[in-house]
Amino acid sequence: MKICTTIRETRAACRDARQGNKRVGLVPTMGALHEGHLSLVRAARAQCDAVAVSIFVNPTQFGPQEDLARYPRSFELDREFLEKEGVDILFAPSAEEIYPKGEITWVTVEGLSDKLDGRSRPGHFRGVTTVVAKLFNIVEPDAAFFGQKDAAQAAVIRRMVRDLNFSVEIVVCPIVREPDGLAMSSRNAYLNPEERRRALALRSSLLRVEQEFHGGERNAAQLMAVAKEVFAREPQVRVDYIEIVNPDTLDPVQQIAEPTLVAVAAYVGTTRLIDNVVLNPNGGKS
Ligand code: PAF
Repeated sequence: MKICTTIRETRAACRDARQGNKRVGLVPTMGALHEGHLSLVRAARAQCDAVAVSIFVNPTQFGPQEDLARYPRSFELDREFLEKEGVDILFAPSAEEIYPKGEITWVTVEGLSDKLDGRSRPGHFRGVTTVVAKLFNIVEPDAAFFGQKDAAQAAVIRRMVRDLNFSVEIVVCPIVREPDGLAMSSRNAYLNPEERRRALALRSSLLRVEQEFHGGERNAAQLMAVAKEVFAREPQVRVDYIEIVNPDTLDPVQQIAEPTLVAVAAYVGTTRLIDNVVLNPNGGKS
């Protein structure tokens, strides 16, 4: 695995990897890798000839009161995982490499960036789309792999790719869960044992919504009420949002007639966690 810290080295390595019309896959990450990230790497391996992974804790997607300073960093372990997965290129730049002094250009997907997590975390998606656009320009991947756990992020990135004519296929891979159902997240490391138990309220609320939906309920307000009941039994978990929306526009849906995203975000102690499920009235796999 070639480890690159500069844009110049990464461009050269990716150019070499593409030789002979090879398909290059990119898995952008912020490190602290878990099975969720590794599932993206495996999907990239399966669909591409060469795989590049980026590890960059992107400062511009954290708000001033958020967890940038304490975000888990485990570069050596991450490097070992990626080596074992057969990754070809690891791009691990410094903040100065990605954001040279005096930079004033941002990428914003207006009208999507202020929904769901974007509403609770002003500026978050602007930071995500700016860094992902940079990564696309540096690596020039044929395909890029993201997790369904960050469903709103996936919608924003898909829209950016469409609107800015990036020539990259966006592949969104299923949520990977712990055995008890908690969605894997680097932030799960913040939870103490009591919070870890309480965090299951996110998954339980979505399972209850799915149950009602499979029982025939199609009204979003009714489904939302069911989710809220679950959180009411876990008062120490503070709901940030429960939303039932179109998975592309992130606009609220009243009656479920096509695949619809049910997304939740909640604070367990000081840790903000997210999870979601897609309800498909046409019976397809969500
Ligand atoms: O999903 C993440 O880990 C980040 O938002 C991403 C896509 C790597 C951009 O920093």
